[in-house]
Amino acid sequence: MKSIKITDTTFRDAHQSLAATRMRTRHMIPLIEKMDDVGFFSLEVWGGATFDSCIRYLNEDPWDRIRIFKKYLKNTPTQMLLRGQNLVGYKHYSDDIVEKFVEKSFENGVDIFRIFDALNDIRNMGLSIKVAKRIGAHVQGTICYTISPVHTTEKFVEMAKQLEELECDSLCIKDMAGLISPSAAYELVNALKKEISIPIALHSHCTSGMAPISYYAAVKAGVDILDTAMSPFSWGTSQPPTETIVAALKGTAHDTGIKQESFRGITEIFREIRTKYSALIDERSQMIDTNVLLYQIPGGMISNLISQLREQNALDRFEDVLKEIPKVREELGYPPLVTPTSQIVGTQAVMNVLVGERYKVVPQEIKDYVKGLYGRPPAPIKEEIKLKIIGDEEPIIIRPADLIPPMLHLMEEEARKLGIVRQEEDILTYALYPSIAPRFLKGEFIEEPLKPSGEEEKDREKGIPTEFKVEIDDEEFFVRVKPLGGFVDVVEAKHEEKAEKIEGAIVSPMQGMIVKIKVNEGDMVKKDDVVALLEAMKMQNDIVAIRSGKVKKVFISEGDSVAAGDVIIAVK
Ligand code: CO
Repeated sequence: MKSIKITDTTFRDAHQSLAATRMRTRHMIPLIEKMDDVGFFSLEVWGGATFDSCIRYLNEDPWDRIRIFKKYLKNTPTQMLLRGQNLVGYKHYSDDIVEKFVEKSFENGVDIFRIFDALNDIRNMGLSIKVAKRIGAHVQGTICYTISPVHTTEKFVEMAKQLEELECDSLCIKDMAGLISPSAAYELVNALKKEISIPIALHSHCTSGMAPISYYAAVKAGVDILDTAMSPFSWGTSQPPTETIVAALKGTAHDTGIKQESFRGITEIFREIRTKYSALIDERSQMIDTNVLLYQIPGGMISNLISQLREQNALDRFEDVLKEIPKVREELGYPPLVTPTSQIVGTQAVMNVLVGERYKVVPQEIKDYVKGLYGRPPAPIKEEIKLKIIGDEEPIIIRPADLIPPMLHLMEEEARKLGIVRQEEDILTYALYPSIAPRFLKGEFIEEPLKPSGEEEKDREKGIPTEFKVEIDDEEFFVRVKPLGGFVDVVEAKHEEKAEKIEGAIVSPMQGMIVKIKVNEGDMVKKDDVVALLEAMKMQNDIVAIRSGKVKKVFISEGDSVAAGDVIIAVK
């Protein structure tokens, strides 16, 4: 009989699942040393969405965060979640960027790399595994657990054996949506234990409510490591509570060896932190929802969908989107729903619902997915959907990154030209997030304000308006204000062009940022030519000309935010 080891996820997955990855490093710091003394197998603190969120919303250097953890942790290894060839981004990067990123992550303090690929395509994991092994890191090869007609225990075991052959030090069953039932957990762990000898971790979410029972079943089948989160950031779409799992196994043959007293002083502080972030924690992500077993949507994705829909002012379409997701997933060959395929499937579902016609707007990332540029889908993509998205183009069958030429030098050159390289790591930040990194690295971003808990909602209920139209010299501006404690802060003010007043107006189909304008005033364009790129919900969408003609006026500059219906250009 053996002791169960615990990986605590509070500093990464838990707040990614419950609070849109917004926990600030300064709120974590007072807890790091205390968590170090508990006796965890590891602390998951980095990767996943933390990198993106740090830059986009928190005005924090993600590299600082991992260095801070490494500085304070004396006993406990740090762990990161790495999306294979996608690193901490949403697409495949060139091999030289992957190599550099893994090396720099290790150098800055990552001890354990949990490496996965959204499609369970091992070709997308091979390089990061190899590099992490070479530099002496612990590699946890990961299986994305999902349910579909093509995902069987045999298939998962086969994948685990391949990961062991690649010299992974441990294996993770990553049940990102909380779908694994107790009997399935028992069956899978039991089958794996017969075929592989490396330790096995189980990572699940409480979304459907089954996770704690499934954890116990996995323990009975011989699992070695369980992922949990400190109770104030547990349950709902997050992990089972650390304190509870430790208590449940106390005094048994599977005792974690962690003393209940060691949480004294920690749980309370996490409770206070939770209160700070309560405005961000949506009620929906805290509730048990067995519907997830129908929709199979991971926790992080639900809180993401909610914030996407809120941004688009379409929270009332949440149920419709939930119903659309399984349809899109089946049509796209049953990809497990985890970044980036969760964004691919989720965003397409949101677009199908919001645009009102299925697959009318298809972001570039979804086209790339269908072309095979993310790897091999678990099942073939439905022929008629493929035809609709990429026509008669043939998808690729080779490892996607083989098509990507070395990019690191080019990225370094660009970054240096922009004058944003203060440390070597900045080149990687730029390579991963070229559209937002320059402004972040130049210090032009400010930290997103932390909403006072429930205050804004209360104001809404009281009927205090937060959105205004302001007219200055006959020009109309749209202004949205957010109450911030005692202040009123203008968070968004922009010129609003009315589409109906402008002939040949090409408008934004949704809220987002124009990252590229491809035409100048006076250019001739043909119908369906791409005139601009819109980044919406972290995906790039082509804005195409709806008629041929001459570009009469460009209303938007690159980097501008737009709302649905805002005029981008006019064609006459
Ligand atoms: Co997770």
